Amino acid sequence: MGNTMSRLDSHTLFFGVFGDPIRQSKSPIMLNRAFEAVGMNAAYGAFHIKPGTLKDAIAGIRALQFRGVNVTVPHKVEVMDYLDHIDEAARTIGAVNTIVNDDGKLTGFNTDGIGYIRSLKEETGIELRGRKVLMIGAGGAARGVGYALAKEGTEHIYIANRTTEKAVELAASMSSFASVSGHSLDDIPALAAEAALIVNNTSVGMHPNVDDIPMDVSCIRPDTVASDLVYNPLVTRFLREARDQRGATVHSGLGMFIYQGAYAFEYWTGQPAPVTVMREAVLASFEAAAAKA
Ligand code: ATR
Repeated sequence: MGNTMSRLDSHTLFFGVFGDPIRQSKSPIMLNRAFEAVGMNAAYGAFHIKPGTLKDAIAGIRALQFRGVNVTVPHKVEVMDYLDHIDEAARTIGAVNTIVNDDGKLTGFNTDGIGYIRSLKEETGIELRGRKVLMIGAGGAARGVGYALAKEGTEHIYIANRTTEKAVELAASMSSFASVSGHSLDDIPALAAEAALIVNNTSVGMHPNVDDIPMDVSCIRPDTVASDLVYNPLVTRFLREARDQRGATVHSGLGMFIYQGAYAFEYWTGQPAPVTVMREAVLASFEAAAAKA
């Protein structure tokens, strides 16, 4: 592997990710590898931005002339107050995860949903037009994924959530661009039987709670695609059981993570992201962490 640091000089372009917590982020490993692969003199850092300091941090992007920044939990909504422009999709979703700095003018984008769709289609080949989808969870991640699914021409999106109220609220807020309804988790068996795609938008099953599962897989049909936004572990209990017990096609959250970063890279640089090396860098980092544990 090459040494990115040796190329840093007075021409280096700066990038980063703002979040709290941030030390677990794989974005620096993935994006520094991407810049290196295309021969760009650039560096990407992880910045621990605590609540109450986001406004100053965004002003810092302008002052220090960072070319671009990713924004992650818990800042994706608040950041919208501090930007000059917000892309229409990001405004509809209500969250920004990517900022592009054009000579001090900051534009916010949301690459989570489009990143999700690109990886889903590439890995499973699913055709979403005219199909029904079941999403479990109604938080921030569900908003971006729901918007992107609707844009693909889904016939209907069912949202099931532990707190039913939140599913109903999210459905109402999406009703201008999608046919969508909110449900309780109890409705899952009936809804799953109709769904071409079931997406886990919750954190259920994420490390260290790897034995948790967001639904009983017995109602999943073999021709269904089961998809999980969780990427640690790479194959969650939900995906493993959907695949092994039901014969479903499965799609891991790693693809969404890679492609949200790939779209950000493309907005910043105007060139195609080196997706294969980005994926390899993230996988290698997981393997290194597993070997240490
Ligand atoms: P994110 O931005 O990652 O989507 P979030 O906005 O906090 O995070 O949303 C988390 C989602 O996971 C919610 O839909 C939450 O359900 P509630 O609205 O009922 O809180 C869901 N979730 C988290 N833990 C869960 C659990 N143990 N069982 C079921 N759903 C859970």
